Amino acid sequence: MKLSIALTAGLVASATAAPTIGAIFDKILNKLSLDQIAKIRGGRYIGTATDVWIMEQDAPYKKITTSNEYSVWTPENTMKWETLQPQQGAFNFTEADKLVSLARKTGKKVRGHTLVWHSQLAPWVEAGNFSPAELKKITKNHVQTVARHFRGKIFHWDVVNEVFNEDGTLRDSVFSRAFGEDFIEWAFRWAHEADPHAKLYITDYNFEGDTPKTKAVTALVRKLKKKGVPVHGIGAQGHFILGNLDGEGMKRTWKTWSDDLKVDVAIAELDIRIPMPATPEKLAAQAADYETVTKNCLAVKRCVGITFWQWTDKYSWVPGVFTGEGAPLPYDEDLKRKPAFDAVKKVLVAGK
Ligand code: G3I
Repeated sequence: MKLSIALTAGLVASATAAPTIGAIFDKILNKLSLDQIAKIRGGRYIGTATDVWIMEQDAPYKKITTSNEYSVWTPENTMKWETLQPQQGAFNFTEADKLVSLARKTGKKVRGHTLVWHSQLAPWVEAGNFSPAELKKITKNHVQTVARHFRGKIFHWDVVNEVFNEDGTLRDSVFSRAFGEDFIEWAFRWAHEADPHAKLYITDYNFEGDTPKTKAVTALVRKLKKKGVPVHGIGAQGHFILGNLDGEGMKRTWKTWSDDLKVDVAIAELDIRIPMPATPEKLAAQAADYETVTKNCLAVKRCVGITFWQWTDKYSWVPGVFTGEGAPLPYDEDLKRKPAFDAVKKVLVAGK
């Protein structure tokens, strides 16, 4: 009897003490960087797309990019086929090597982006009118030369990118015209052979909710895994439009990948664009969307991390492509934190 009273008293005491400890812990977390908090909250990372040429011409940008706010870099453009093999057989790793070397010096991991993609492909690949046998050799050579060059220095590779149409059919490309979907399986096997330690991803956009594209990617990954193909993760690009987020669908899809397919989920290219000008109201709504995405990642067991597609509006690809839209990132053009940054931090600190 006495023991149970003592235990109950103990429980009550620790229950009342808990909020204070929790508050102290939150205070400590708040002093840390996004990446440090994400690590504590489930071993996740926060990363950013970047390229070295930008850092070379913008010191304040470099300071934040190399800071501990991010622990993962994705080369925004310098590991694409057109950059690495602009002419047949003539590989040029200069810029990509600079990025990998600076990443290692500043303690960042690198997500390699991307081995096989219909876009930013060197023009000679299509112009050559190669036979399927020649094209297979060329593709294997590209995948393996690149993966081997960086072997051991890349922790994720985006192996194939954007291979489906919105209706879930295979996207028309020089690769799908020659091989149907077989090139996808081959690319994963080739990449794994060349760099057995890298986690290999398939990436796409507009497939966060219950869309035909989501079904197609999910079915393909299920099939590949059954065949023993080394596919380890799905990368959701996450190029979102303000107010257009299917938060619940996104969470459902990511959970299916994580818990049923048993693959990792990376939010690989997050940005949320808004119609310009950016008013305080729009920035607050954008912050709410960033909050949803971050919460969803934390709610998914195998969501390994979030990468912003650049971290500042100053270098976002959005305004150049979508007229009248922009400001999609957590920092503004003057490298000042926006409400979106605070929203991501708040969710990470809360851990849910
Ligand atoms: O390097 C040339 C430069 O020499 C030239 O003076 C300049 C003139 O426009 O163009 C430069 O190339 C640009 C390149 O980015 C490097 O800055 C291209 O025009 C431009 O089209 C290219 O855009 C990139 C785009 O992919 C190409 O598809 C964006 O920066 C990049 O953010 C974007 O990233 C993609 C991901 O790889 C895949 N998912 C979608 C995402 C957004 O489109």
